[in-house]
Amino acid sequence: MKVFIAGGTSGIGLALATGYLRQGAEVAVCGRNLSKLDDQHAYAALAKFEADVCDRNALADAVVAFCEDNALDLFINCTGSYADDVAQRISYEEANAMLRINMLGTINCFEVAQEAMRGQSGGQIVTIASVSGTLDFPHSSLYSKTKRAAIQVADAYRRALMPYGITVTVVAPGYVDTLKLRELNQQDLSKKPFLISVEDAAQRIFKAIQQKKEIVIFPKRMKWLMGFLGLLPHVLLRNIMFRKAKWMKND
Ligand SMILES: NC(=O)c1ccc[n+]([C@@H]2O[C@H](COP(=O)([O-])OP(=O)(O)OC[C@H]3O[C@@H](n4cnc5c(N)ncnc54)[C@H](OP(=O)(O)O)[C@@H]3O)[C@@H](O)[C@H]2O)c1
Repeated sequence: MKVFIAGGTSGIGLALATGYLRQGAEVAVCGRNLSKLDDQHAYAALAKFEADVCDRNALADAVVAFCEDNALDLFINCTGSYADDVAQRISYEEANAMLRINMLGTINCFEVAQEAMRGQSGGQIVTIASVSGTLDFPHSSLYSKTKRAAIQVADAYRRALMPYGITVTVVAPGYVDTLKLRELNQQDLSKKPFLISVEDAAQRIFKAIQQKKEIVIFPKRMKWLMGFLGLLPHVLLRNIMFRKAKWMKND
């Protein structure tokens, strides 16, 4: 089994990469900075490519080099840009990165993966969105908007790729304890509800991929919370979200 993981050099992507290696798959990862994986014996068996998902040609070259005319069974897009924007204070650079990586990067991943898979019998493309993207809320953050867009884009590709036997799975996690999330929160994740470990997240994702689910939202309590919030009038929800943001920021 050949698995390519865009954004597999840290966090959720790296947990999936090492998990698939343990299952005996041939695994490649790409990211913009491979030095994170230097000198780590555990990652020696990973094929590593320096490629930015915003550069479609660079990503396509990496996938072609990895496949060497063999079938690509699974492509997972774990890249993403998120910032500490709970209080709606994000810089132009952060907004730019979110739009490019979460939207253009998502489309490039679908394009490159489907190019590799269309001549073969089937394949599976997975994209990591966020539980926040499942909530229909006009006042949500830019991050949530980009993740909502990623879910919609995945739906469109699912329909378009069905005739080729290529399935599409969306993963919408709640808070996952990764170094990146810790970094953005000064190492304090005590205010993140229903936080789960990266290993737990990886197990849930393996299962959803194996079952070829269209979408998996976890943990369940976060899914239910989003379902409940989605039923509230927008004015009330806006008030709750504003207070939550202030509480999270200790404002
Ligand atoms: N952690 C959470 O609580 C949480 C919750 C919901 C959803 N998510 C989503 O899950 C995904 C992974 O999050 P994470 O916490 O595991 O973050 P992470 O540790 O920062 O992982 C992101 C990975 O993507 C790579 N990457 C980022 N931009 C890239 C680009 N333009 N081209 C190629 N690779 C790129 C990063 O490596 P380089 O920076 O070296 O390129 C890294 O390998 C993201 O989409 C995030 O939005 C996370």
